[in-house]
Amino acid sequence: MPSTIMDLNDLAYYGKKVLLRVDFNVSVNDGGIIGEDYRIRMTIPTIEYLTKRGAKLILISHLGRPASDQDTRYSLAPVAKRLSEIMSVNKVRFATDCIGPSVQKEIDHMNVGDILLLENLRFHKEEEKNDPGFAKKLASLADVYVNDAFSTSHRKHSSIYGTPKLFDIKVAGLNLKKEIEYLSMIKDNPPKPFTLVIGGVKITDKIGALENLLPKANSLLVGGATAYTFLKANGINTGDSPIDNEHMSWVTKALTNYGDMITLPTDHIVSSSSQISSSLVNANLIKGNIPNGMIGFDIGIETSQLYSSLISAKRAGTIFWNGPMGLFEIGLFSNGTINVAKSMALAYWRGSKTLVGGGDTLEAMKRAGVSEAEVSHVSTGGGATLRFLAGNEMPGIEVLN
Ligand code: 3PG
Repeated sequence: MPSTIMDLNDLAYYGKKVLLRVDFNVSVNDGGIIGEDYRIRMTIPTIEYLTKRGAKLILISHLGRPASDQDTRYSLAPVAKRLSEIMSVNKVRFATDCIGPSVQKEIDHMNVGDILLLENLRFHKEEEKNDPGFAKKLASLADVYVNDAFSTSHRKHSSIYGTPKLFDIKVAGLNLKKEIEYLSMIKDNPPKPFTLVIGGVKITDKIGALENLLPKANSLLVGGATAYTFLKANGINTGDSPIDNEHMSWVTKALTNYGDMITLPTDHIVSSSSQISSSLVNANLIKGNIPNGMIGFDIGIETSQLYSSLISAKRAGTIFWNGPMGLFEIGLFSNGTINVAKSMALAYWRGSKTLVGGGDTLEAMKRAGVSEAEVSHVSTGGGATLRFLAGNEMPGIEVLN
């Protein structure tokens, strides 16, 4: 664990300019309304900790993958507004660039406890290239560097890697600390029994994490599109369901090595149409093989009941859930995912350590009416969480050490 903001003397912050790298990469709709603001809210403890100690706080973040600085859809202005609403005491000001004379002027006028959010770092192409000149310009803005952007810490970008390298004082924020603590527990020493619940579509993103976690796990429950590749490898007909042929050999190997602890769906909610809409009517429950011409969109009722009982069985231990069980955005295919979310909450109340990773999975929890307070930890990361669990390089964390 790198040093954190709590390891420094309070005097390190008073009147100092602190550059706080956050990940405010949230969904913003056309009207500038923020969708899920979990990533914003998770930085509040760090923001409060620093402003209460008299820091002049300069927040930097990216938003989306803009092609140019002309693409105002990716402006962080709506995020500054949302942050102002949350931070009732401190006023949040917004600068229309992240480097340059106008930004410097804004910073020169800051008082202790002030908060200034700078415009999207990715409006400068140099950010993603870890350009040394750009890193230097960012570093020149402040005295102390804090990284609270776990979900971007797998990127070797200027604000994550090149910039902190130029600081004598560089520490982790409280969100980054919490993420490292919970995810390290899962990666290194999960309280047993350890259950993995894996859904979603892309197997490729999960392979590294699964290779690390499977030897420590007691069971793996598979759902979502991922399940069809596992079922096909087991000789089950999956109809026209999506199959990840590229990773079939990895799946076959996993079944050979860990078959005893892997549970796959035995029934499915299927449709004959890939043109899915909420008005869809031809959803059927199928047991066993999925006929050709049919596509699986959710785990079936029997599977859902089995997974729910395995997740919330009365025992402590750890459960890590990544990826929905089906196309939960459509009501007819949401049952499996909603039941997993509810069972996660029940397991938590019964004393299990429950961890949820990935943006989609948080969205699914919300749909099930399960709040973040009913889970031990909801990771802010998508790709970053899986890479951390895979033991891959995390430049944004390593640079702080
Ligand atoms: C994320 O949403 O996973 C992070 O903000 C990183 O964004 P990126 O994948 O565009 O680098």
